[in-house]
Order: sequence, then structure tokens, then C-alpha cells
Amino acid sequence: MPKITIEKNLFCLPWTQTILGTHLEGKANFMALDWLTRVNYDPAMIGICVNRAHASASAILSTGEFSINVPSSAMVAITDYTGIVSGKKVDKAKLFDVFYGELKSAPMIVNCPVNMECKVSQRVELPTNYFFIAGIMNIYTEDRFLTDGKPDVKKINPFVLTMPDNRYWSIGESIGKAWHEGISIRDRLKQES
Ligand SMILES: Cc1cc2nc3c(=O)[nH]c(=O)nc-3n(C[C@H](O)[C@H](O)[C@H](O)COP(=O)(O)O)c2cc1C
Repeated sequence: MPKITIEKNLFCLPWTQTILGTHLEGKANFMALDWLTRVNYDPAMIGICVNRAHASASAILSTGEFSINVPSSAMVAITDYTGIVSGKKVDKAKLFDVFYGELKSAPMIVNCPVNMECKVSQRVELPTNYFFIAGIMNIYTEDRFLTDGKPDVKKINPFVLTMPDNRYWSIGESIGKAWHEGISIRDRLKQES
């Protein structure tokens, strides 16, 4: 089958759905955020991409802090809401019970199974977005989301977004173990060589 090219914004990669928490003029604000990635192992660092026009971008510029909250699938409607209205016009803080860790400007959502408080260390200025690179200061969860002391994806029950169909998806069944499924191929090719 020959490959065809499609419009450059029409990729279809699933992103983990999160809610970005910031302090906007001294008050908590939240927005749906999908463009995020781990960027360093030790110290643990994360990178997030925020459109320059969003209230959340100005908030991070002024405080240098933010939180990443991982909602469960049960929170799909409220998460979507935070992505369709701006904190410039609407008080999104009143939607959630909020708590704070070490940082004073990184409000976190009690109902989200996982929360991270982050401190910005670098900012990359892109044509429409800022890419903020931040150190993860602390990750919070509850015992009920852990199995053998580690986060359990089934219990956390996060969801993902795909574009351009703009749909939310729950996580399906596990299809294998990472750093493990490829071992048989590695060993077979080693024997053949
Ligand atoms: C599902 C979803 C994912 C989104 N992901 C991002 C993102 O990764 N980066 C971004 O800048 N905006 C993203 N947005 C848009 C913002 O969440 C939205 O414009 C929000 O209203 C901005 O709020 P604020 O002005 O209070 O910061 C997303 C919106 C939705 C609905």
C-alpha cells in the first residue's frame, strides 16, 4: 500500500489527559492540557506546551509554578469544561476542592488520583506556544490508587485524547510488558547471527 501525506496537524496520537493548575492573579485556575511529556529522568522533569494566549500561560510566566493533575475517566465532562472556557472570564477554581503542597502557586485538585507540583526551570518561546520545562517537586496520590506501593493504572483509570477526531478514550487492556516483549526477538536474532 503506498504511503500518502496528510495535512500536518492531522496526526492521530493519543495524549494523556491532564488538567493544568496555576495561580492567576493570586487565585487558582485550571485548564485541560494534553501536550506534555517527561523530559528528564533524574531529577524528574516534565515539559508542557501552553498557547501564549491562554490565561494559564500568563499565570505561569508570573509565578514560575504549576501543577499537573491526572483526572479519572469519571471526570471527563468537568475536564473538558476547563478546556472550553478561559479563566479570564470564568472562575474555574470553584469547580474543584483544591489543596497545596510545597509550592504556593501550584493549586492541585483533590479529586484527581495523581497530582504533581512543578517549578519552571526553562522556557522555550515557540511561534504560538510556550514550552515550559519544569522540575517535579512532589507527586501526590492516595493509597487506594496503588498496588504494591506503585501507581496502578487500572485504579487511577486515566483517559486519553486523540486528534483530529477530538475524542476521549479510556485505557484498554494491557497487551504486553515493556522492556520484555522484545527479548525473544533479540535472542533469536543473536542466535541467527
Ligand atoms: C481536551 C483539550 C486539550 C487541550 N490541550 C491543550 C494543551 O495541551 N495546550 C494548550 O495550550 N491548550 C490546550 N487546550 C486548550 C485550553 O485548555 C483552553 O483554551 C482553555 O480554555 C484555556 O484556559 P485559560 O485561558 O483559563 O488558561 C486544550 C483543550 C481541550 C478541550
